[in-house]
Amino acid sequence: MLSRPRRNRKNSAIRKMVEETIIRPSDLIYPIFLNHPSIPGSEIQSLPGIYRLQLEEVMREIEECIELGILTFVLFPVVPEDLKDKTATYSYAEENFYLTSIHAIKRKFPGIVLMSDVAMDPYSSDGHDGLVENGEIINDKTLAILGKMAVAQAQAGIDIIGPSDMMDGRVGFLRNELDSHHFDHVSIMSYTAKYASAFYGPFRDALDSAPRGGDKKTYQMNPANKNEALREARLDEAEGADFLMVKPALNYLDVIHLLKQNSVLPISAYNVSGEYAMLMAACEKGWLDYNTAMPEMLLSIKRAGADIILTYFAKSFARLYKEELR
Ligand code: PBG
Repeated sequence: MLSRPRRNRKNSAIRKMVEETIIRPSDLIYPIFLNHPSIPGSEIQSLPGIYRLQLEEVMREIEECIELGILTFVLFPVVPEDLKDKTATYSYAEENFYLTSIHAIKRKFPGIVLMSDVAMDPYSSDGHDGLVENGEIINDKTLAILGKMAVAQAQAGIDIIGPSDMMDGRVGFLRNELDSHHFDHVSIMSYTAKYASAFYGPFRDALDSAPRGGDKKTYQMNPANKNEALREARLDEAEGADFLMVKPALNYLDVIHLLKQNSVLPISAYNVSGEYAMLMAACEKGWLDYNTAMPEMLLSIKRAGADIILTYFAKSFARLYKEELR
């Protein structure tokens, strides 16, 4: 036998040397849920280990993550019902706690990368990412609202905006709005191929942002489609996106691979709330081993072609990574 692949697996030093896929904590983006100041922090029931935090707690969390090598964070606001309306006006109101918190976080940690979510759902009394009129999501009127939201976030000091709304033409529209307000340095990580997925359930629990009527299928993509992901990717590239994202990650590894092969932009993947919940539940039951299953999950996403992973596992992975270096 000339070729014996097992020789390259014979001890852990060799296995490390021939390892093809490596995840560093700095490849990960950690999602953080920021509570309205009037509501105390609380654990999210369907996301064990993940909390809705007060600003002070967010500061501590970021500090701990920096120690572990995580440098990028995506912030989501938990907005009380009475601040929601049909046109998401609170999203760009001057006193908005999300905007003032972005400002405070960047002042305290100028070296981190802070990313926002651009979509109407946390602020919408309809629970949709776009403006609802007569039961329909109105694309171009939504763009105007998203534009105000993005500019307000840029004014607050955001580094990357993350349009997660799936309206047509939003990347170009937002790029133009940012540039014309002198925010040409603010990046856009577009949720390029965002599918109408069942795996966002725990996230919507966290924000209490589920659609009050209908579903998101007229704007989020059909899980059956792949060519459409490429079409969205071409549009986002042409419209000036700095990063392309696939969401969710695990059921869409083929889509991650496809975009990686067809773009020179950095590809990110969102390992969403339902994927986290699924693994946590199995581990709680003792059916899977967390410390080996969790990194295997993240490896599969990176191996498929994701340069960057948004994941609720970020902090926990970084802890394991640090221990392994010892
Ligand atoms: C809002 C948004 C969603 C997620 C990120 N941004 C939910 C949705 O589209 O309904 C989901 C993230 C997750 O499940 O972890 N536009």
